[in-house]
Amino acid sequence: MAPLDRDALLARLRDRDPASRAALFREADAVRRARVGDAVPLRGLVEISNVCVRRCTYCGLRAPRTGLPRRRMAAAEVIACAQRARELGFGTVVLQAGEDPALSPAFVADLVRRVKDGTGLAVTLSLGEQPADVLDAWRAAGADRYLLRFETSDPALYRRLHPPGPRGPVDRVALLRTLRDLGYEIGSGVMVGLPGQTLASLADDLVLFQALDLDMIGVGPYRPHPDTPLAAAPRGRGPEDADAAPDTVLAVLALARLVRPDARIPSTTALGAAGPGLRADALACGADVVMPNLTPPRYRSRYDVYPGKARAAEVGWAPEAIAQALARLGRRPGRGPGGRRDPLGV
Ligand code: 5AD
Repeated sequence: MAPLDRDALLARLRDRDPASRAALFREADAVRRARVGDAVPLRGLVEISNVCVRRCTYCGLRAPRTGLPRRRMAAAEVIACAQRARELGFGTVVLQAGEDPALSPAFVADLVRRVKDGTGLAVTLSLGEQPADVLDAWRAAGADRYLLRFETSDPALYRRLHPPGPRGPVDRVALLRTLRDLGYEIGSGVMVGLPGQTLASLADDLVLFQALDLDMIGVGPYRPHPDTPLAAAPRGRGPEDADAAPDTVLAVLALARLVRPDARIPSTTALGAAGPGLRADALACGADVVMPNLTPPRYRSRYDVYPGKARAAEVGWAPEAIAQALARLGRRPGRGPGGRRDPLGV
């Protein structure tokens, strides 16, 4: 196979012919099987706070959205969710939130310590842009991994999506490199089908996945949220525009597997929200991880990042049903933390 440089990636994104797509999906599936195997590591997702100070133009948790009731879990509730992850046999718990100032560095460090001591699970944090000293302290407290999507590698589009926060503009790519230097396994990713996004910029995103040597890659469709400014933006329909159609998202996911053969790639909730069967499709074209949602329902319904999110987590993929869902696909739950460097086939 020819090396996948930017031009080759762009050519594959442009080739929407169904037979080419099917060949791409088969190729990604074969690479996934050879490189990370049939075991599917499970990450229990706990959405600990929907409070956010940021104003990202696409996100339903953005601060100016006053109509959304804000909720923050107590530490004891988070720990109970982590215990449930352990009882269900999951290897990792993911603690995710908006950029909530009440989640102080000390509070999170203490939470990480208690989750690790109480469960022994790998801990992934997904808490937005944070100063390096804070990330260092959380790593010292026992956090293993950090997720921070760069969302798009197009600088002009990025600026339209991300008004700077209280600490001014942050270069997420530089921050990902800092996280790596601090000893985290790092995850990033993008939304597909953003207004103004082109196929060329998706090719650049894929090149960046490779350049950053990502351990984890999350790819999902952009889903317009009616209570956000970006929802009103026209979405291009030209041949060079990215769209959020399932096949486009799955093509980006499959190419992510080809450029980063041993990365952990989840079948994302946003794909599940876009249509039934798409989570299974993702697992058949490169994805190898599932992140069942363990957030208690009364918090989950308020974690309204994009339409359909809270419900998508459940249909057919409830935490207790995962093993059966995977068995139907000829796969099995992974055991152990399921990190990048774990042996094949755990
Ligand atoms: N549609 C799809 N994904 C979204 N995210 C945020 N808002 C949306 C949306 N409207 C994704 C972003 C973020 C992750 C937590 O959720 O990629 O990093």
